[in-house]
Amino acid sequence: MFDLLIQNANLPDGRKGQDIAIRGGTIAAIESGITAPAREVIDATGRLVSPPFIDPHFHLDATLSLGLPRMNRSGTLLEGIALWGELRPTLTREALVGRALKYIDLAVTQGMGAIRTHVDTSDPRLVTVEAMLEVKDLVKDYLDLQTVAFPQDGLFRAKDGLASLTRALDMGVDIVGGIPHFERTMEEGRQSVETLCRLAADRGLPVDMHCDETDDPLSRHVETLAAETIRHGLQGRVAGSHLTSMHSMDNYYVSKLIPLMAEARMNVIPNPLINIMLQGRHDSYPRRRGMTRVRELMAAGLNVSFGHDCVMDPWYAMGSGDMLEVGHMAVHVAQMGSLEEKTAIFQALTVNSARTLGLQGYGLARGNHADLVILQARDPAEAIRLKAVKLMVIRRGRVIARTAPRLAQVLIAGRESVIDPAQGFAPDY
Ligand code: FE2
Repeated sequence: MFDLLIQNANLPDGRKGQDIAIRGGTIAAIESGITAPAREVIDATGRLVSPPFIDPHFHLDATLSLGLPRMNRSGTLLEGIALWGELRPTLTREALVGRALKYIDLAVTQGMGAIRTHVDTSDPRLVTVEAMLEVKDLVKDYLDLQTVAFPQDGLFRAKDGLASLTRALDMGVDIVGGIPHFERTMEEGRQSVETLCRLAADRGLPVDMHCDETDDPLSRHVETLAAETIRHGLQGRVAGSHLTSMHSMDNYYVSKLIPLMAEARMNVIPNPLINIMLQGRHDSYPRRRGMTRVRELMAAGLNVSFGHDCVMDPWYAMGSGDMLEVGHMAVHVAQMGSLEEKTAIFQALTVNSARTLGLQGYGLARGNHADLVILQARDPAEAIRLKAVKLMVIRRGRVIARTAPRLAQVLIAGRESVIDPAQGFAPDY
């Protein structure tokens, strides 16, 4: 007897008409025509059933703070950092926890199974760290939350930046962060990467740095991060977030840099929503897109996943907690519109990001956690195109969120019909 049987599912790898049997919070079988009885049966009716979305780059301490204490007038990264600096002294643990939980509820209903959040360690009160560790514990039954010690104001630029970051790690933060391009000089940026990689190696922790989130073609912190990764034997345990400078770099230099990143087995985390908004602000026209070289990095075998980064905070007044919105923007900005490329981007939002986070028991295979999302789409490309509704979110074999399908009633010239945007239209090739 199974606990739950999901019938007639399309899977992200292209298999159709599959049944997924669940027992004890674990996937017991995936095959067609399972006939054994189950306590509950869900007919997926040929919809896509995916493992959950994973956000590998977010700022849960800043989310939903839009307008506090004022709006970002210039729309730039630098005014966002200044604005956050104004808000930070007024932050309370209670308000931080309240906003984070509100966002997580929204994200979970949209199929989010895990988030890696950067947590600002610049204010030595570390109220942000206390709050996010509390949130991690409160949500642990329905969302895996990883925390990164993030020196927003610069490791060396902030007073006692290294001491505060180290204390955050002592409090239980999981990962070492950084922001080398925001240090005072290129040289201090280089030193910050060295210091932080050594700290991570000494403590046996992974690294995830905001790295070269600039339009400067001569920024070289990605190179340093890759080299320090190799030097400290941290291969596969380091993520470079944003890497937008790679958009503007000389092609010859990039032809040397990408193999170095591959040697370091760097996890790459572009954030297409925020960076299409923030980058190129000093350009007139033509104006650079400012997203890293996704297609080339994927082709070189690097693990690329995409982050949402911000939702309604000093840097980004948009966002919805929907990783398909992130993938939708990635398709456009990276110009990856073929069926294979859209499928690769869906993979980046799920399997690749789970790999970045090092999640255990993730994915559609026997013996893994029964964590699933049923989407109002037939396949990954359609899911991205429609930013498909997440009809059901399942965690450890239990339905934890439901959303009604999006159906439109046509009332034109005496005709009456119902349109399901995921059915009855041309296929996605
Ligand atoms: Fe970020």
